[in-house]
Amino acid sequence: MTAALKLVHPLTDDDETRWGAVARRDAAFDGRFWSCVKTTGVYCRPSCAGRPHRENVSFVATRAEAEAAGYRPCKRCRPDRFIAGALADRIDTADWAGVRQRLDGDGWARLGRLLSDEECAALIEGYERDAQYRSRVIMRRHGFGEGEYRYFNDRAPAIVRELRMRVYEKLSPLANGWMRRLGAEARYPAQHGDYLKICAAAGQARPTPLILKYGSGDYNRLHQDLYGGEVFPIQIAILLSAPGKDFEGGEFVMTEQTPRRQSRAMVAPLEKGDAIALAVNERPVAGARGVYRVKMRHGVSEVRAGARYCLGVIFHDAM
Ligand SMILES: [Fe+2]
Ligand SMILES: [Zn+2]
Repeated sequence: MTAALKLVHPLTDDDETRWGAVARRDAAFDGRFWSCVKTTGVYCRPSCAGRPHRENVSFVATRAEAEAAGYRPCKRCRPDRFIAGALADRIDTADWAGVRQRLDGDGWARLGRLLSDEECAALIEGYERDAQYRSRVIMRRHGFGEGEYRYFNDRAPAIVRELRMRVYEKLSPLANGWMRRLGAEARYPAQHGDYLKICAAAGQARPTPLILKYGSGDYNRLHQDLYGGEVFPIQIAILLSAPGKDFEGGEFVMTEQTPRRQSRAMVAPLEKGDAIALAVNERPVAGARGVYRVKMRHGVSEVRAGARYCLGVIFHDAM
C-alpha cells in the first residue's frame, strides 16, 4: 500500500520538495499536501499567495489532519473549496448519511462542492449554445418571476448527464423510503435509465435538466418542479456563479408547509459549485398521530446586482 502511494505521489513525500512547491506557489501541487502555518493557525494550499516563514510551516497529507490539529482553512486560498478528481469520486465521497438525515429532517441538504470553477464556467459559457437546448423560457411571460431558463435536450454536456445518473443512484433508496412512509409503493428503480423508461411510459419523455439565468432585479417565485403525474421526490441544484463576486442577493429560498401551521422559510447558503438537494413536493414527517405530509416550495430572492447562473437537475422527465 505504501509503495503504491509513493508511485502515485513520487514527489510529495519529503518536506524539502513540499517547501519548494510552497516557495514557488506551485498550483500543480494543490490537493497533494497542505501547509499548516503555526503563527496564524491556518492551513493553505501550496499555491497560496501568503508568505510564511519556513520555521512556522509544517505539512500534512489531508485536510482532515490539518483540522484535527486545530488549523482553520485559510481565507485567502480557501483550501476547503479545493476539489479535484473524477465527478464520480466527488459524488461517492459526499456525506450521504448526513444528507439523508438532513433531507429527512429539513427537506433539504447541502451536498458540498460538486463542480470546479472551470466546470461552472463551461456551463455558463454554454448557455448560448443553442444545439444543446430544447427550449427557452422567459419567466415573465408565464408569471414565474423575472429571468429566464433553458432546458437541455438529449445533447446536454456529459457532466450534466453524469450528475443526473449518479446522484439519482444515491437518492433513489431515500425516495423509496419516503414513499413507503407515505403509504405509497416504493417504485424508483436503482438505475436512472430504468426510471426514465417509467417516465416515458407515463408520457413524460422530455429532459428536464436546465440552466437558469438571473440578472439584476430578477427573481423566481416559490414553485414546485412538477411536470406531470410521475414525480421523483428529490431534486438538486448547483450554483454556478460566486455570491458576493458575480452577483449580490439571489438567495436560494425554500418554504415548508405543515398541515395547520404557518409556513417556515429557509435559506440555503451556497457558494459557487455547491450543490443542494431538496424535496420537490412532499415528504413524510412523523407526528404524534402518525405520518403527515409536509410540502416544500423553492425559489430565488431578487438578484440585486450582477448575474447568477444555476444548474437544476430534476430526475423525472416532462410531458
Ligand atoms: Fe425550480
Ligand atoms: Zn492560504
